[in-house]
Amino acid sequence: MMKIDKDDLIEKVLIDEESLNLKIKQLAKTLNEHYADRDELILICILKGSVMFMTELAKNLNIETKMEFMSVSSYENNTYSSGNVKILMDLDIDIKDKEVLIVEDIIDTGYTLKKIKETLLKREPKDLKIITLLDKPERREVDIKPDYTGFKIPNDYVVGFGLDYNQLYRNLAYIGVVKRSVYEDIEEIK
Ligand code: IMP
Ligand code: MG
Repeated sequence: MMKIDKDDLIEKVLIDEESLNLKIKQLAKTLNEHYADRDELILICILKGSVMFMTELAKNLNIETKMEFMSVSSYENNTYSSGNVKILMDLDIDIKDKEVLIVEDIIDTGYTLKKIKETLLKREPKDLKIITLLDKPERREVDIKPDYTGFKIPNDYVVGFGLDYNQLYRNLAYIGVVKRSVYEDIEEIK
């Protein structure tokens, strides 16, 4: 697919850099309180979209924290979820009896997170919670609720701060709404 210029792609800024930083600091404060006096916390970053969120969050944590990574595929270069979630890269640590927090960029239909949660629960962590920067509750198709949420957003396709459109625009420092005209031909397939 052809590369689209950022100005032709983005309709508007939905969440600016300052609001993101402020919210992440608030989330970290909550985690610092909830996880105080507990065992070390294992953050699991779901690549690649959650990279920026996880690093900003981790910088603001004052509890013993490990940063781990896993990668799954669900969209296969579409703007809608296929529901067919595959683990592309698994954790390289054992999470049995550990305090685990899944760090997700966005929950849309919920298929991705449901699959990740089921997979990790089989490994018997002491505790498993979910934090997501963004949530599109209107789009949910399976029953899954995050324990901590940054922002609830409307049903628009967004990019930036880790989130991509065809692997591009992850490096934007803000969250922007993609113009519907850019992807509406794909949406019609749903
Ligand atoms: P779900 O399985 O439908 O919940 O999809 C979740 C995954 O799809 C997220 O972790 C994102 O990687 C991706 N995703 C969902 N909505 C968006 C969006 O608006 N922009 C970019 N990626 C998205
Ligand atoms: Mg993701």
